[in-house]
Amino acid sequence: MSIDINEIETFDHDVVVIGAGGAGLRAAIECSAQSLNTGMICKSLLGKAHTVMAEGGAAASLGHTDDRDNWKVHFRDTMRGGKFLNQWRMAELHARHAADRVRELEEWGAVFDRTADGYINQRPFGGHRYPRLAHTGDRTGLEMIRTLQDHGIHQGIHIHQECTALKLLKDDARISGVFGYWRETGRFVLFRTKAVIMSTGGAGKCWRVTSNSWEYTGDGMEMAYMAGAELIDMEFAQFHPTGMIWPLSVRGILVTEGVRGEGGVLQNSDGDRFMFNYTPERFKEETADSPEEAQKWLDGDTSARRPPELLTRDVVAKAILNEVEEGRGSEHGGAYLDIASRRDPDYIKRKLPSMYHQFKELAEVDITKERMEVGPTLHYMMGGIAVDGETQMTSVPGLFACGECTGGMHGANRLGGNSLSDLLVFGWLSGLGAKEYISQLTRPLSIDSDDVELARHAAVAPLNREGGENPYVLHEELQSIMNDVNIVRTGAGLQRAIDAIEELKPKLDNIYAVGSSQYNPGWNQALSMRPMMIVAEAVARSALIREESRGAHTRLDFEGEREEWGNINIVVRNAEDGSMEVEQFTRDVPPEHLAEIAYSNLDDLEGGIHV
Ligand code: FUM
Repeated sequence: MSIDINEIETFDHDVVVIGAGGAGLRAAIECSAQSLNTGMICKSLLGKAHTVMAEGGAAASLGHTDDRDNWKVHFRDTMRGGKFLNQWRMAELHARHAADRVRELEEWGAVFDRTADGYINQRPFGGHRYPRLAHTGDRTGLEMIRTLQDHGIHQGIHIHQECTALKLLKDDARISGVFGYWRETGRFVLFRTKAVIMSTGGAGKCWRVTSNSWEYTGDGMEMAYMAGAELIDMEFAQFHPTGMIWPLSVRGILVTEGVRGEGGVLQNSDGDRFMFNYTPERFKEETADSPEEAQKWLDGDTSARRPPELLTRDVVAKAILNEVEEGRGSEHGGAYLDIASRRDPDYIKRKLPSMYHQFKELAEVDITKERMEVGPTLHYMMGGIAVDGETQMTSVPGLFACGECTGGMHGANRLGGNSLSDLLVFGWLSGLGAKEYISQLTRPLSIDSDDVELARHAAVAPLNREGGENPYVLHEELQSIMNDVNIVRTGAGLQRAIDAIEELKPKLDNIYAVGSSQYNPGWNQALSMRPMMIVAEAVARSALIREESRGAHTRLDFEGEREEWGNINIVVRNAEDGSMEVEQFTRDVPPEHLAEIAYSNLDDLEGGIHV
């Protein structure tokens, strides 16, 4: 029996932002400022988002702690960190606008740590040439979310909490609506809209050890993919080098890079500061080769080179893995992170209050006296929905995306701190992009009731079965499969993962949730399995194709960066027959002015050009 869509609770908005983290909030604020009737869908509660897991700061070349910094050096660092696979225009826009967006946040009430003379303080972070991260102790993401929330709720945004979006609806090619359900009641809901901005974050829950919480199941990537958008750079999934590893119940929880930014060092079971052995050729000119020189840099000597603990995340994560594999791991299979012997207790408690409490409460470790035990944890996806760098629109008219769910900005590896400035810059730009698009629409849009019926039917199917596959067991199986799509990969392992995902697919069609649709975690879990499977497949298939090692993608069977891959991005799309189509394409030649900066000698860029 076909559904009467008039019976479904319906909201009308000019634009619907899906996702309530920093990117979504910044996008919604901009839409509202552009006089758009703006709806915002939060899977959980407003502001309960992975943004808070970017603890150490927002990267922006304010130049407050080193006036040689400027957008060009930031851009150069970002491209080098991304191994030159970043979308050039996005990396340029990000570096150019990050500082203004941070200042704007301060005007809206964000309280950042200050320098002695009262400016926003900036701390060192991996891969950034100068101390560049505007921060609030080790709770920067939280402070940013608080500010965006406080500012946003006064802008007339309509907030729909505890609502899961399931499907994008289209009028011919154009976005015209969103179908979803209230998690509490299980009732369906329809949003009529002229544009959607996707800001749903990543898909860390595909992996077992992750800093991501339950919301991060790749929903936005899947909805965009099913609506016809492309996913790009999916092979690049970032393992943050330092997650908690013990006790097991808290494995994966983030230990901010800010610990290393404040002088913390990594040690192996022999007590050796092993990162000195892992500096890649590309970073030798800017990385200290002795503890004395590293210390000088931390003490503010700008002629010294950075400590090796502040190499990019891909390098540090692999170094820890290597120490473990060679038998020099910590007691529970990671590395030791020592700040206790480097900074006095008051300093540690002031600059790293969350880390102090986190370890005290969860691991009974006093980080002012003892070393922490840490190891890699899946933290961020560089890959995601492909967008136009200028407008943030995907190839689907009316569908925009910003923040972690997009791909392109960070290339093969993101620099820490660039996520917080990314969400500010691209949240803002996607709001402007949506406004421009909507103002050019020439006819009203409609929703096809058959599409709604199909979406409803698919959603209730797990509840209507007599029995079937347990969604929690399927999730476990998927996470086991993803052990082959981890920090280091092989062709054989990736093929095994792809085959296993193919075998899992029929089970997905027989997934079963016991009980009714009213607050039903099993049903919620069942509905998040398809997005995770799509993302997992996209990562595995893209990773199999890229026969080299670059950034966060390491192939044991294809070591090192290969020149022939330096100019290739990989995209996946949903083919007509429902299979996943994978394509590699050669990137455009970079604009000359940007190539000059990215490949330049650093000395040419310094001089305090604050744009
Ligand atoms: O380590 C951190 O504080 C994380 C920052 C980030 O992912 O940008």
